[in-house]
Amino acid sequence: MILVTGGAGFIGANFVLDWLSAANPLQNERVVNLAKLTYAGNLENLNPLQGDARHTFVQGDIGDFELIAQLLAQHQPRAIVNFAAESHVDRSIHGPEDFIQTNVVGTLRLLEATRAYWSALPEPQKSAFRFLHVSTDEVYGSLAPTDPAFSETHRYEPNSPYSASKAASDHLVRAWHHTYGLPVLTTNCSNNYGPLHFPEKLIPLMIVNALAGKPLPIYGDGLQIRDWLYVKDHCSAIRRVLEAGRLGETYNVGGWNEKPNIEIVHTVCELLDGLRPKADGSSYKTQITTVKDRPGHDRRYAIDARKLESELGWKPAETFETGIRKTVQWYLENPEWVAHVQSGAYREWVSKQYTAGSTAVT
Ligand code: NAD
Ligand code: TYD
Repeated sequence: MILVTGGAGFIGANFVLDWLSAANPLQNERVVNLAKLTYAGNLENLNPLQGDARHTFVQGDIGDFELIAQLLAQHQPRAIVNFAAESHVDRSIHGPEDFIQTNVVGTLRLLEATRAYWSALPEPQKSAFRFLHVSTDEVYGSLAPTDPAFSETHRYEPNSPYSASKAASDHLVRAWHHTYGLPVLTTNCSNNYGPLHFPEKLIPLMIVNALAGKPLPIYGDGLQIRDWLYVKDHCSAIRRVLEAGRLGETYNVGGWNEKPNIEIVHTVCELLDGLRPKADGSSYKTQITTVKDRPGHDRRYAIDARKLESELGWKPAETFETGIRKTVQWYLENPEWVAHVQSGAYREWVSKQYTAGSTAVT
């Protein structure tokens, strides 16, 4: 079996659902899923697995050494896939402390509990064991317009509390391999989008605000570039790296889909105009509004995924056009999920970020 951490959030839940589906030849391998259930963790994401004996959910913190040690002893996983993190840049600007606690201290404790378990494993389990750390392209900082995309050897230049905390966690993982021999793998992926994405991030926020007749807030000039990958392609990349990645290596994951934010928002509006036209016949684009820019906003991210493609033969299944259509359709088909995640805590965040924290300028 494998231990997944953070598998009630956006990417982790998609990963667990895909792991236990026909998309994965190993679909009968059990998953123990440990997540703290922060605001971003949602057990509803795992509803399709209710009553499925292959999936065990445990609520807990990766920073809880005793709990991790007990789970490892009890379930004897052959691998750990670490998604657990605080993941939202804007929240990290308002309150960095939780990011250091989970992403740095939490990763340290998880590594230490894993090291104790792995060191005592007999062969051949010890050699076969893997710790896969899921990270982000944001650790590399920001690119100028004509710079080449981030390769695995690009220097670390994190600019936000979020990316600094993820960079620190990547360094810990690397050091536990070099110093203690822990069999680790790290993936650094570009921005994900798709089903189950919490609507505080750009794409789902635009979809749910558009449908609710609310403003679509573009930070600054909207020309910041992100490199978008459909979440299920990220999941297939992680499965492939877990299967065949070289120990101690990092693999950049991306789909060569660089787009400015304003273009993303226009695409979302155009899809909604076709799939759910507004009663008054106007475009959802009329709801676009410019708000104050994010402090220290990284201008451009772009991933060079050639190592993963050539060494491990991975390719994304979706283009941006197919993936974004599926995503918009998923939100139209799941209004209850959207309503449930828009809890009191969500409303508090929206009011802090878009009313008190940002000024509408147009
Ligand atoms: P998310 O915020 O949607 O989910 C995070 C999950 O981690 C939730 O289940 C939450 O309950 C859990 N969690 C938080 N703190 C925890 C703790 N201390 N102990 C145990 N569980 C805890 O995040 P996501 O977007 O699914 O991202 C998952 C991982 O992928 C993160 O490590 C993130 O840095 C990385 N990543 C995300 C993106 C992206 O575009 N979202 C891109 C590249 C990498
Ligand atoms: P986000 O989804 O928060 O991901 P990240 O900051 O980790 O890349 O934001 C994606 C881009 O969209 C980023 O450049 C910030 C921008 N953005 C907006 O313009 N308006 C918004 O309301 C949000 C949430 C993000």
